[in-house]
Amino acid sequence: MENDREVILSANELTKFYPVRNPSLIPRPRKYVHAADGVSLTLRRGVTLGLVGESGCGKSTVGRLIVGLERPTSGQIHYKGRDLAEAGRGDKDALRTELQMIFQDSYSSLNPRKRIYDILADPMLYHRLTDRAGVEQRVDELLAMVGLPADAKRRYPHEFSGGQRQRISIARALSLEPKLIVCDEPVSALDMSIQAQILNLLKELQEKLDITCLFISHSLGAVRYVSDRIAVMYLGRIVEIGDAQEIFRHPQHPYTQTLVSAVPLADPQKRNIADFLLEGEVPSAIDLPKGCRFAPRCRAAMPVCREREPGLRPCEGMGGEQHLCACFAREEAEDGKIHR
Ligand SMILES: Nc1ncnc2c1ncn2[C@@H]1O[C@H](COP(=O)(O)OP(=O)(O)OP(=O)(O)O)[C@@H](O)[C@H]1O
Ligand SMILES: [Mg+2]
Repeated sequence: MENDREVILSANELTKFYPVRNPSLIPRPRKYVHAADGVSLTLRRGVTLGLVGESGCGKSTVGRLIVGLERPTSGQIHYKGRDLAEAGRGDKDALRTELQMIFQDSYSSLNPRKRIYDILADPMLYHRLTDRAGVEQRVDELLAMVGLPADAKRRYPHEFSGGQRQRISIARALSLEPKLIVCDEPVSALDMSIQAQILNLLKELQEKLDITCLFISHSLGAVRYVSDRIAVMYLGRIVEIGDAQEIFRHPQHPYTQTLVSAVPLADPQKRNIADFLLEGEVPSAIDLPKGCRFAPRCRAAMPVCREREPGLRPCEGMGGEQHLCACFAREEAEDGKIHR
């Protein structure tokens, strides 16, 4: 069972607030975008956690915080039991190889002036993961692993298709022998048929190499396909987290329910969140509504939902401690009591 696996990384109450620029000359109190606001999650060895939610809800922010590309405004990240914020210089070098990120846009993430050979070889040499004598063989191995011919190493990124470039990005991430990979919308820019190939490749390599993965996407189909667990994000917060199949079969949060009901099961790959409309406007991540952030769009909202913010609580009979949901309406339906 994946829930017994060793915890590789845990995030505790992560927040990231970005200051909003004031374009006028009149001084105003500083406002902040609440990109991530109290996000807690656990990543276990070899397990893929899918992070899904609408555009702007903070998925990439969480991904960047986790691999250390940004520092949180508050909250802690423990990687293999150690606080990332307290990592010393030697630790930071190790972290730069062990935590990797794959981005949506392979055009801008691969240096256009370098041949594929150098794109793959340079980081390995820099981090001394191989020596000059062994590096070429390692490049060939990596290309074979991601299904590219060995002569690809002599070419430049622009000579490849989007799907092939994403294979190169995967090879580059794997070259550093990572323990954890954050995949941020890795297939969103690709054609449907190529998406499936890249998802299969990611899944196969992740399982074979026992890599832990945070898979970010706004496409529920893609997330369902690769994930063991799923976390649903709404305006900077996780509103539900649990086993992937259970989230699809028995979604508990009204937001998750709306998302899941909009995915036709016969062809889940073809739908994503942008394809349907929820009632009401998405509130701004700058001026957040009081109480539950989803309440203005929620069919089940009660007066308390506009007063207080619900926390994540275990869903009884639904995987217990492993399936959490932040919703007062659900708490009331369960035991008639609303928890603080
Ligand atoms: N560097 C930044 N400076 C200011 N605001 C930012 C910055 N990065 C992100 N934001 C804001 O934080 C919020 C969350 O952004 P983020 O990119 O994490 O969302 P996302 O869920 O990844 O969206 P998408 O699906 O469109 O990629 C957005 O409102 C965004 O405008
Ligand atoms: Mg994003």
